[in-house]
Amino acid sequence: MNESVFPKDFLWGGATAANQIEGGYNEDGKGLSVTDITTAGSLKHPRMLTYTLNGKPGKTPALPGAGLPEGAVGAIDPNEYYPNHVAIDFYHHYKEDIKLFAEMGFKTFRLSIAWTRIFPKGDEKEPNQAGLDFYRRVFEELKKYNIEPLVTISHYEDPLYLSEKYHDWQDRKMIDEYVKYATVLFKEYKGLVKYWLTFNEINSAVLMLNMFSQHAGDDSAFQHAYQKLHYQFVASARAVKAAHEIYPNYMVGNMICGIVSYPLTPDPKDILACRHSWEQNIYYCGDVQALGEYPSFAKRLWNEHNVHLDITDQDLADLKAGKVDMYTFSYYMSTVVTTHEVKDTVGGNFSAGAKNSYLKYSEWGWSTDPEGLQYYLELMNDRYHLPLMVVENGLGAVDKMTADHKVHDDYRIDYLRQHISAMKDAIKDGVNLIGYTTWGCIDLVSAGTGQMSKRYGFIYVDRDDQGNGSLKRYKKDSFDWYKKIIASNGEDL
Ligand code: BG6
Repeated sequence: MNESVFPKDFLWGGATAANQIEGGYNEDGKGLSVTDITTAGSLKHPRMLTYTLNGKPGKTPALPGAGLPEGAVGAIDPNEYYPNHVAIDFYHHYKEDIKLFAEMGFKTFRLSIAWTRIFPKGDEKEPNQAGLDFYRRVFEELKKYNIEPLVTISHYEDPLYLSEKYHDWQDRKMIDEYVKYATVLFKEYKGLVKYWLTFNEINSAVLMLNMFSQHAGDDSAFQHAYQKLHYQFVASARAVKAAHEIYPNYMVGNMICGIVSYPLTPDPKDILACRHSWEQNIYYCGDVQALGEYPSFAKRLWNEHNVHLDITDQDLADLKAGKVDMYTFSYYMSTVVTTHEVKDTVGGNFSAGAKNSYLKYSEWGWSTDPEGLQYYLELMNDRYHLPLMVVENGLGAVDKMTADHKVHDDYRIDYLRQHISAMKDAIKDGVNLIGYTTWGCIDLVSAGTGQMSKRYGFIYVDRDDQGNGSLKRYKKDSFDWYKKIIASNGEDL
């Protein structure tokens, strides 16, 4: 076989998040996270946050920054279904699942730690030992197979208590709580973990503004998002610094939702609007975390929406001292920006806007655009000169299981093949790409809709949107295909 284009120690693997796989939502001292009060949804119906207000149950769409009504307290309603409470029960199946990952030849496995297993409310002085022990067992199991954990410290699962108390990161006390939590992890898992990511898709706070600001009706949504981001940037930077002090070889990355934007027309107004969308959605967060300071266009973004931030000199020093060691991102799709009126629109998670007639869209409105991945990789390589990792990529699709328990998911294989090929072209172009973890390497609960039927995995999990099913695991056709990809270091596509 020809020598591979991929580096010889390339980190092939898969990615997940605690709240989407673990279940065991109230076991061994775990506290409630925001996701634990989020109901199931579908393409047509948003997920809801449940609460009690004056002793009565209520619910409100789980929209970012929207939060609960004044005076309401997040609560579980026994009459509702919460898909994350059991999820795929990784909490009790982790040995079986890791064995399957090892069989595919995974070099790395991306997982997140549920903050509320370690600090159930978030403000405790001492961590919950049972929570620490669980992840130690998981990391030891991975070590058995030489699978390197890639650990997200916070993946859409803030402690409910802290989130309510500090109104979704509107108080700088959140910084201390986060750094306390991250520091415990860095000390506890020294020798077991090398790669850490501070916040999953940190830029989702600004991406969401495109989708929901029209509903907010004023600039308060922007004020909320930019202030939240500032505190998270400082928290991330201080965590990076702490990690390096505890163990200099730790590699700590940021994690950006990598949506690629194209202008719809050559109208210079579209070109400029597209550039500005890159600045707001992608570069704003990437620059602060990778370059250690706010970019010059930040002032324009704040002024456009009358945003005034609480930023101290110490914060700015912390940002400089806590630059990330690697730039990681998720990549699913591209979107189109225009200043013109369009008839043909599409509404994927973060990518609402004009439809791109050159691309195909999934049932959920997500475009398939492998060239977009190459484009993104080349841009970020030039801008940051850091090792890059694609830590999420994949196709959410409805799978059909045959009577003999097979899933013929050639559409998934096709999608992944095209994206791996795009990464290969980027590497040939000089991009310093060190790893690739496909999203939802085992079927899991969708973050956007709460569905199980939006499947991403190489491994099928028998569970449906209402919570029925045996939770048994089955290998899909893509399982053997990915095994072959890893064994050939990306050559046998
Ligand atoms: C990313 C998130 O945005 O996309 C994941 O980091 C999420 O948590 C993934 O699951 C896919 O989105 P969805 O809505 O299909 O689960």
